[in-house]
Amino acid sequence: MARANTSYTCTECGAVHSKWSGQCDACGAWNSITEETPLSAAAGTQSLGASRGRTITLTDLSAREAPLPRTQSGLAELDRVLGGGLVPASAILVGGDPGIGKSTLLLQAAAHFAARGLKTFYISGEEAAAQVRMRADRLGLSDAPVQLAAETVLRDILTTLDAERPDLVIVDSIQTMWSDSVGSAPGSVSQVRAAAHELTAFAKRRGSAVILVGHVTKDGQIAGPRVVEHMVDTVLYFEGERGHQFRILRAVKNRFGPADEIGVFEMTGRGLSEVANPSALFLSDRGTPAPGSAVFAGIEGTRPVLVEIQALVAPTPQSQPRRSVVGWDGGRLAMILAVLEARCGIPFTGLDVYLNVAGGLKIGEPAADLAVAAALLSAREDTALPAECVVFGEISLSGALRPVGQAENRLKEAAKLGFSSAIAPAGGKPGGESGLKVTRMTDLTAFVGEIFGA
Ligand code: TYD
Ligand code: MG
Repeated sequence: MARANTSYTCTECGAVHSKWSGQCDACGAWNSITEETPLSAAAGTQSLGASRGRTITLTDLSAREAPLPRTQSGLAELDRVLGGGLVPASAILVGGDPGIGKSTLLLQAAAHFAARGLKTFYISGEEAAAQVRMRADRLGLSDAPVQLAAETVLRDILTTLDAERPDLVIVDSIQTMWSDSVGSAPGSVSQVRAAAHELTAFAKRRGSAVILVGHVTKDGQIAGPRVVEHMVDTVLYFEGERGHQFRILRAVKNRFGPADEIGVFEMTGRGLSEVANPSALFLSDRGTPAPGSAVFAGIEGTRPVLVEIQALVAPTPQSQPRRSVVGWDGGRLAMILAVLEARCGIPFTGLDVYLNVAGGLKIGEPAADLAVAAALLSAREDTALPAECVVFGEISLSGALRPVGQAENRLKEAAKLGFSSAIAPAGGKPGGESGLKVTRMTDLTAFVGEIFGA
């Protein structure tokens, strides 16, 4: 039976349950619930500090204090995702799968910030200082003025940091930190929360920026980065396909800048290099136009990005055909298949459908609907789309095409990369000076007729 001071916490989402169960009600994860000593009982004994309960009038603050100065790293892809640079006294979480390149990215960032004059500490709980140094050698950063430490005891870390007053502290990773005010093992939800809380509090108190690394965990023993997302100012995820060299740093929450901004990097033998023009990269291995391929003119954050959407449609012996999607939403694919069937009379029954966004990018924009439909139809009809043509537009359930935002920017990017024509929804602003031949359509049936002559 559960003792009164024990609770059961989900390591995926941090939800607290009164008893153990195999699946978390809150997030649906299996085998993620572990027994925890509550944070309040153990960590509530911390001292409160000297100055308590002071308030400042908002107007006083704006009159006297200049806006927070941001520091740029010089890595433009990172600075953009941070919302224009690093804000002092901010706490940033960088999450990602193990082995995706978080340590590499942050060591490079540390070196860049240090070179810009920030007093930078890199604290590794996973690797020995000599190993971090080896990595720095490999990245060509061994002469960067970054202070390295291999330490996991939070009290020691905070004591040192309080004395040193750094501008930037990188903690790799939050799951290895151990706070002696909490009784449970490192990596448990209460340890990860306590460590994130104390480090965030340090950032606010001392004006240092703190970057926490969090592994996205697959098993239920170690708490994932989601349990601390609400405590920090900025949440970035580093993602990519393991087999691909592209890595995407995505802002999912940012108190000091736009969310859903992305930075694109390429993993090379000498660390991560920036990709200033992602469109060229995502399209680089495009040869002659093949059936099942459509180029989508998308917008990621503030930037236009062209990506290739690939579809494969094949007859299936199964009674339940496969619908497999990489880089897009499976529910949205089902919707488009349903619209094609109901509004255009093109069924996909008895056909397996595979959809893939090239380059390992994940697209969330409904503006990709028309490009997805184009790739699916092209694969089904075994007919290539016109060469040098980009596609964008949202499809509504009625089969109508709806205009999408930033059409101008999408067209300009396509023109810049040598495309000569575009298919876009009618309405919205005219294509203007992009120089592309833009075919505008009001519904999906017209699109099918125009492109496939059906
Ligand atoms: P790492 O930064 O250790 O990942 P994380 O901290 O997210 O767990 O990166 C590990 C991978 O990156 C590893 O598989 C090797 C690769 N890598 C390179 O390809 N080039 C490099 O210069 C470095 C340092 C790592
Ligand atoms: Mg690492």
